Amino acid sequence: MTILITGGAGFIGSHVVRLFVKKYPNYKIYNLDLLTYAGNLENLKDIQNTPNYTFIKGDINDSEFIDTLFEAYKFDTVIHLAAESHVDRSIKDPMAFVKTNVFGTVNLLNASKKIWDNNFENKLFYHISTDEVYGTLGDTGLFTETTPYSPNSPYSASKASSDHFVRAYGETYGLPFIISNCSNNYGQNQFPEKLIPLFINNIINMKPLPVYGDGNYTRDWLYVVDHAIAIELLFSKGKKGETYNIGGFNEWKNIDLVKVLCKQMDLKLGRKKGDSEKLITYVKDRPGHDLRYAIDASKINRELGWKPSVTFEEGLSITIDWYLSNKEWLKNVTSGEYQNYYEKQYKQH
Ligand code: NAD
Ligand code: TYD
Repeated sequence: MTILITGGAGFIGSHVVRLFVKKYPNYKIYNLDLLTYAGNLENLKDIQNTPNYTFIKGDINDSEFIDTLFEAYKFDTVIHLAAESHVDRSIKDPMAFVKTNVFGTVNLLNASKKIWDNNFENKLFYHISTDEVYGTLGDTGLFTETTPYSPNSPYSASKASSDHFVRAYGETYGLPFIISNCSNNYGQNQFPEKLIPLFINNIINMKPLPVYGDGNYTRDWLYVVDHAIAIELLFSKGKKGETYNIGGFNEWKNIDLVKVLCKQMDLKLGRKKGDSEKLITYVKDRPGHDLRYAIDASKINRELGWKPSVTFEEGLSITIDWYLSNKEWLKNVTSGEYQNYYEKQYKQH
């Protein structure tokens, strides 16, 4: 079997690539990634020379290139993670999100449809999506697989659109697909623009921790390796034509999470209790900020027995330890373009 994983040099993709390369020595695993600011081959250094693994640098927006690639390799399965993934960036530049997340996905769908040519046995287009497509919850309730889509940010609107295209190709052309919608991930190799790695980096450097609004926004956090495990399980045992929610059963208000992070960091850095908390700075809110995300992951639990393997405290501790022992990685990704981004994003506050 030949498997194409898109976005495999990014945060979640790199964990998925590693898992597949190790679990399936007899399958050929191809990682297609444009290596944007978020893609980093350092994330895969440990498996780069494995015989069943090949990296291909390329753009999912380039339909000619994608068609040629699919013709050449005749992939059996596509696991699609490549995307623009950060809400704050989508507020500044929505079109980049329309291009990669919508057009890029449709390019991959067209190329799959073409090479599979109605012969869909053992074929799968697996689209990785987010719980953000469901919009926001109030103080109670959970997102289920039948919650109506109601995206509020350009990022979530672009992901919702791509989900619709995948489902439409299933209905219209019979393309075998699976979609999974996952909650917020955290863990090793996450680019320090998202909440947890940004705050870890800022605590290390004694920089302010910019909490948006009153900090009472709630997210459901899942350790990235557990997401990768769920993805492999759905690839091997998921029902085609279905959607699955994946979540951490682990809701935190941002401000409470940041305080736990500060406590753990003080201990690990040998700083005085309360030192990191002093860095918390309330800043202007994100426009259209979704109040609360929380996933009902009972379908994947019931049908496939999946549940998170680590507690949040364990996952967070592993994550902090990783960033503390990979300062070179952090330094490399926070040079150059990152500085411009950071200035622009946080200057206004
Ligand atoms: P990421 O930003 O860390 O990685 C995205 C990867 O896609 C990068 O390696 C980048 O180089 C690559 N890429 C971007 N544009 C490309 C293009 N035009 N062609 C080829 N490659 C391109 O993102 P992530 O956090 O790892 O998210 C991966 C997927 O999972 C995304 O589809 C995202 O919507 C989804 N998701 C993320 C989360 C989360 O909490 N991070 C939660 C649920 C779902
Ligand atoms: P983020 O990691 O960007 O993920 P998402 O927006 O996809 O949920 O943000 C998580 C939460 O943290 C979200 O409520 C916004 C908030 N946040 C801050 O308060 N400050 C920050 O600097 C960032 C990046 C996020």
